[in-house]
Amino acid sequence: MGNPISLGIDLGTSELKAILLDESGTVLTHAGVRLSISRPQAGWSEQNPEDWWQACLTALHQLRQQQPDAYARVRCIGLSGQMHGAVLLSHGDQVLRPAILWDDSRAMAQAQLLCHEHPGFADFTGSLPMAGLTAPKLLWLREHEPQIFNQISCVLSPKDYLRLRLTGERISDVSDAAGTLWLDVRKRDWFEPMLQATGLELKQMPRLVEGSAASADLSASAASLLALQQPVVVAGGGDNPVSAVGIGAIEAGQAFVTLGTSAAIVAITDRVAGNPASAVHSFCHALPQRWYTMGAMLAGASCLRWVTHLLGQINEQALLQLVQERVPIEQPVPAAIPLFLPYLAGERTPHNDPLLRGGFMNLAHDTTPAMLGYAVLEGVGFGLLDAMRAVQSAGAVVGQCSLVGGGARSNYWAQLLSNILDREICTLSGSELSACIGAAKLGFLAYGRGNDLPGRGMPVKERFVPAVAQQEMLQARYQKFRGLFAAAQALHD
Ligand code: XUL
Repeated sequence: MGNPISLGIDLGTSELKAILLDESGTVLTHAGVRLSISRPQAGWSEQNPEDWWQACLTALHQLRQQQPDAYARVRCIGLSGQMHGAVLLSHGDQVLRPAILWDDSRAMAQAQLLCHEHPGFADFTGSLPMAGLTAPKLLWLREHEPQIFNQISCVLSPKDYLRLRLTGERISDVSDAAGTLWLDVRKRDWFEPMLQATGLELKQMPRLVEGSAASADLSASAASLLALQQPVVVAGGGDNPVSAVGIGAIEAGQAFVTLGTSAAIVAITDRVAGNPASAVHSFCHALPQRWYTMGAMLAGASCLRWVTHLLGQINEQALLQLVQERVPIEQPVPAAIPLFLPYLAGERTPHNDPLLRGGFMNLAHDTTPAMLGYAVLEGVGFGLLDAMRAVQSAGAVVGQCSLVGGGARSNYWAQLLSNILDREICTLSGSELSACIGAAKLGFLAYGRGNDLPGRGMPVKERFVPAVAQQEMLQARYQKFRGLFAAAQALHD
C-alpha cells in the first residue's frame, strides 16, 4: 500500500494550487493553474465555477504526471479557498450565474441596510455586514436578479463547489461559513435571523462540519475521472485560517500577516474577540475551539503590481531593486517622498468603505519611480498598522508576526513592515504554499493521522527586527498618512 499521501487544494482568486504532502509534512510536488476574473461592471468581480473545476482537473493531472506513485497513494484530500464568494445552485445543483467574489462591491447599499436594520447581529456573526461578505450579496440578488434568487436551492462558498464536484455533497466548514455572515461564530452553527434578513432559509445552507473533520468520500465518478481511489475529503476552510494551519499558527497569541492580492493581519484567539465598530472580523478557525481576529485590507501586494505596471517596469522585482538602491532601507526617508493611500479597491479594516479610493500626495517635478515605489510599500504598511491597531482594540494579542503571501518574497518590504508595525517579522521557507499545506494537513487529520502536523511550523527563512533609528521618522509619516484619510473620504461624499 505504501505510506498515505494527502492532496491539498487551494482555490485562490488568481490561481488554483495543489500539492501532494507526505505524513512527515514534506511537499512532494506542486502544480498551479492561473484563473482570471471577470469585471462586467465597475466594482463587480466574478468567476465561473466551471473554470475552478477545470483548473482543479488540470492541476491534479499535473500532480499525477509529476509523481505517479505518490498520486496513487492519495488517501485524503484537503480544501482551502478564497472566502466570501457566493456560488448559487439550483435544485439540480446547476450553477445559476457566475460566482460573485470577495472583492465585489456591488452590495454596498445592502450591507448598509443590514447594518442599520440589525445592529445587534454583529455580536453573533463576528463582523459588520460589508459589501464583500456573502450575505449582503444575496440581498442584492433578491433586488436585482429576482429570477435567479427565486431559483436558489443552495448557496456555497467557492471551495465547497469543488467539494460538490468531488463528492456530490453540499457541505461547508465553520471557518468558511463564518465569512458568509450567516454563522453564529460562538456556537459555530448557522444564525437563522441573518438568513431570514437576507430572504433565505436554513435548508438553503450546506451541512456544516469542523475544518478538521471528514466531510464525505470522493464519489465513484470523480474517483474514476481523477484516477484516485476513494479518499476522504476533509472539511477544510477559508484561505486565511487554512494558511494559519499551514504555518502552524493554531494557538492563541500567534499572529501573522498575509501580503497577497489582498492583505490581512490575523491573530489566533481561544474565544470570539471582535470589534465590529473598527471593522475587525472575529471568525472561526479551521480547528475546533479556536477563532481568529482579522484586520483585512482589500489591496495588498496588488498595489505593488499596479504601480509596477503604471511605471512601465518589467516586473515587481525590477521596481523593488530600484527602490532598494535609491531609498536604502537603513537610511531615513527624505521628506520629499510622497505618501500613498492603498485604497485601490476601497477598504475593509478599519474604514469599511468600498468606495474609498487611493492616492499619492506630495508629488513634485523631481519625484522618481523609486520614490513612488517606496511610497506604495510604505502605504500598504501603514494600512496594516491601522489594521493591527484595530485587531488589538478587539483584545487580540499581536506579538511577533510571520509574513506570508507573495509580498514575503521582498526582504526590503519585510524590514519596512517590521519598522512600521514595531514587531519582529519572520519570513518562512515554503510559505508560498501555506494554504495548500494547511489543507493537506487537515486532510491527514480526517484520515486519522498526523495529529502533530497542524502545530508544526515552517522553518524561519529570515528574521527582521524593528530598526529603532527609523521609528520617529516613520511615526511622523504615519500621522501624515492618517491626516490624508479625511480628504480621500470627502472625494466620494
Ligand atoms: C479574507 C478575504 C480574502 C479572500 C481572498 O477575509 O477577503 O483573503 O479570502 O483571498
